[in-house]
Amino acid sequence: MAGFPSVKAAPFTYASHALALASAAMVLVWCVHFRGGLAFESSNKSLIFNIHPVLMLIGFIIIGSEAIMSYKTLPWNHEMNKIVHFTLHAIALVLGAVGIYAAFKFHNESGIDNLYSLHSWVGLGTISLYGIQWILGFVTFFFPGAPPALRGKSLPWHVLFGLFVYILAVATAELGFLEKLTFLESSGLYKYSSEAFLVNFTALILIFLGASVVISVIAPARADAPRGYSEISEN
Ligand code: HEM
Ligand code: HEM
Repeated sequence: MAGFPSVKAAPFTYASHALALASAAMVLVWCVHFRGGLAFESSNKSLIFNIHPVLMLIGFIIIGSEAIMSYKTLPWNHEMNKIVHFTLHAIALVLGAVGIYAAFKFHNESGIDNLYSLHSWVGLGTISLYGIQWILGFVTFFFPGAPPALRGKSLPWHVLFGLFVYILAVATAELGFLEKLTFLESSGLYKYSSEAFLVNFTALILIFLGASVVISVIAPARADAPRGYSEISEN
């Protein structure tokens, strides 16, 4: 497309770091300052719930975002960046699983039904697909590793499916924020309170974070790279 401005990935990775930091701080202020803090064991079951948004946003989505951007952000060689990429994804997966466990624990100890909402269905689907993506990525690109021709063929699918799962994770978190705020408002929280604004702005910042991570993947590392998705160079 002649005349289409070339967009480099770097500014979007900087924006993503800043948005990640802002949303992490905001979810902590919400859960600790407004909602009373976090606990795995407590007679106040809401504190068990609070672990859920914190781990899903900071542990799953933000660490997952950094994992995705690692090839574009880190100064090392391709092999080292690959190790960081799959290690950060493994950490995100584990923290995400613990976060979901906290939501189930909160439900079970409070006598609330499990898995009744769209949020919980899409959420369970997302973490399962994330696990499958991790295993397929590890086996294909790291150990034992597929033959070079198969690696080459599967890479665009890995990137496409990886982005799909990441976007699903962001969408799930959006549904979660919306659902929790609606619960709080229907049990008396003032709709224009500072807490309600904080939750909505956290969710808004998450949309921008998701968009800038996706653009950083689609945009080339260098302005003179071919348009469309292209493999990151070996060094
Ligand atoms: C990608 C991130 C997320 C995933 C994968 C996820 C997944 C889940 C799952 C599987 C459940 C069901 C637990 C059960 O049925 O016992 C759940 C519950 C819940 N989550 Fe999330 N969640 C995420 C982020 C969030 C966020 C950021 C919030 C914001 C507060 C949130 C709010 C809730 C609420 C209110 C429930 C209880 C009601 C329900 O089951 O829908 N979630 N989540
Ligand atoms: C759920 C986990 C994973 C997700 C969501 C994911 C997602 C992605 C995404 C979006 C990219 C594109 C990055 C870019 O071009 O800027 C990518 C690249 C890549 N990923 Fe993953 N990935 C995951 C796990 C893994 C694992 C376990 C491995 C094993 C080594 C792996 C190996 C690679 C490789 C080799 C690239 C290619 C970079 C290049 O273009 O040369 N990924 N991944």
